Amino acid sequence: MFEMGSILPHAKDRRMRLILAIESSCDETAVAIMRGASGRAAEVLASEVYSQIELHREHGGVVPELASRNHSLRLRGLVEKALLDAGTAMGEIDAFAATTGPGLASSLLIGSTAAKGMACAMNRPFLGINHLEGHLLSPFLGRSSVPPHVALIVSGGHTLLMDVEGPGCYRRLGGTRDDAAGEAFDKVAKMLGLTYPGGPEIELAARTGNPHAYDFPRSMLHDAHLDFSFSGLKTAVLYTLQRMGGVESVHDLAASFQQAVIDILVGKTLRAARQTGRRIIGLSGGVSLNRALRGALQAACGKSGLELATASADLCTDNAAMIAFAALLRHLTGESSPLGEDIHPNSPLV
Ligand code: KG4
Ligand code: ZN
Repeated sequence: MFEMGSILPHAKDRRMRLILAIESSCDETAVAIMRGASGRAAEVLASEVYSQIELHREHGGVVPELASRNHSLRLRGLVEKALLDAGTAMGEIDAFAATTGPGLASSLLIGSTAAKGMACAMNRPFLGINHLEGHLLSPFLGRSSVPPHVALIVSGGHTLLMDVEGPGCYRRLGGTRDDAAGEAFDKVAKMLGLTYPGGPEIELAARTGNPHAYDFPRSMLHDAHLDFSFSGLKTAVLYTLQRMGGVESVHDLAASFQQAVIDILVGKTLRAARQTGRRIIGLSGGVSLNRALRGALQAACGKSGLELATASADLCTDNAAMIAFAALLRHLTGESSPLGEDIHPNSPLV
């Protein structure tokens, strides 16, 4: 664990560093360039994201081969645009980083191989970054330090509660035992005839629905442990649909489903804060874009005297700025990864 500007090995070295990072773990191809120094808030100089959502929409989900082929088609152009936007050149970059896991193997390979190639050609260090660490740190990107906090990461592939002492010092408190929160949003959206990705569609439909119309289960909400389960909730929506013989009110179903997810996420996060004694909650990942979730968590934090830290909208869904931030913090401690490091498609954060 370290706190920027205090016990860093290079704490006296205040030289500005430039990091170029690539994110290609799923269906977003992203490149970012970040400037930062020990004890200073990092600055995003460029953040390019090419979303492949349109390509995958007709298949109702991400097709791995389509994703990797498009990462390799887009990456070079995005790197050139990022350098141009940042007003810098490849020779000025101090370290190159890429997401090395978790994610789709064929997609991870494209970004990490490109970053290693650039690092090798420019004789600069390479850093392999865990995608979940990127999400976890994203609410603190504009600050000069990452405080101790409880992190709730809610994305398409993960639902995780972590106790964070500082950058690089993480303890897993709990996670999903089946579907991730975003996955549940996507699957329920499909049942309701909404398009992929389902989260934003459900949120939109829920705005004019009654969240108390259906009494869906809040699995494990009152258990002392900090794990989640969303598959029972998903099945309850399915059975309700079957009983009704079709979708009667997409709005009421979406609102009731969304409310159940929110109650579970908020309840478990507050429990985590009580158990750890942390006073700050960091909320990240694609599902954290959901305004009803943000509002409910903000209200619950307010009542308990906790601070809620959220990332800006462009940092919630997959992006390379969060990977650059994680890489910058590690680079400032003198850390790097071997060029021979493999990808880790199933790697947990800890
Ligand atoms: O973090 P992310 O971009 O990718 C992963 O690392 O998985 O998260 C994508 C997930 C999808 O499941 C999507 O449906 C969900 O985030 N999502 C939302 C909203 N916007 C995106 N879920 C609920 N409400 C939203 N507004
Ligand atoms: Zn993600």
